[in-house]
Amino acid sequence: MSNPNQEHFYLSKDSKQNLLKQKAHVFWLTGLSGAGKTTITGKVEAKLHDLGFLIKIFDGDLIRKTINKDLDFSDYGRTENIRRVAAINNEFINCGVIVMNCFISPTNSMRQMAREIIGDENFSEIYVKCSVSICEKRDPKGLYQKARAGEIKHFTGIDSVYEEPKNPELILDTENNSIDECVNDLLNYILNKIKF
Ligand code: ADX
Repeated sequence: MSNPNQEHFYLSKDSKQNLLKQKAHVFWLTGLSGAGKTTITGKVEAKLHDLGFLIKIFDGDLIRKTINKDLDFSDYGRTENIRRVAAINNEFINCGVIVMNCFISPTNSMRQMAREIIGDENFSEIYVKCSVSICEKRDPKGLYQKARAGEIKHFTGIDSVYEEPKNPELILDTENNSIDECVNDLLNYILNKIKF
């Protein structure tokens, strides 16, 4: 599906890309809580910014405090979370902005929905790969411990499903590679897509 938002009355995506000298694209990072999505995108954003690119990051932890604060972690809540983010992503890429997303987005159907809303040609799925056992050891927010204690229900990887992507455009294995290696891999992948 192509972007539904290209009103001919307004300036086109091409005009915006020409202004910014970049090609807009959505980089969708999926993976368990604690896999490294936020850390990697933060570092990649800084490098791209220094190279003169305009980036917008959407992060589940932040978006769920603002526009999606009405949503829970049920199937419906997660699907609606992803649907809204994908729709907002379209507004940004129509404005020529490069988008990185950090959402667990746990199922293939949720990620497929995002791809269809955004358009295959504008979308790259990046799997930030790390096993539950390692994420649980890292437990940067103490959430796995709470989930094991039953204080958080339906926690992804504990008592809620995470489906590994079947055919992602890129895999960043944070269990077996350093963060710097993953940052470089993602940076190189992104640069190939966004260079004007
Ligand atoms: S998603 O499943 O709907 O894509 P999203 O990425 O927005 O999730 O939010 C995940 C973040 O919410 C986690 O990193 C964690 O900090 C927090 N969180 C709170 N409750 C849960 C839960 N039940 N499952 C997963 N993450 C949770």
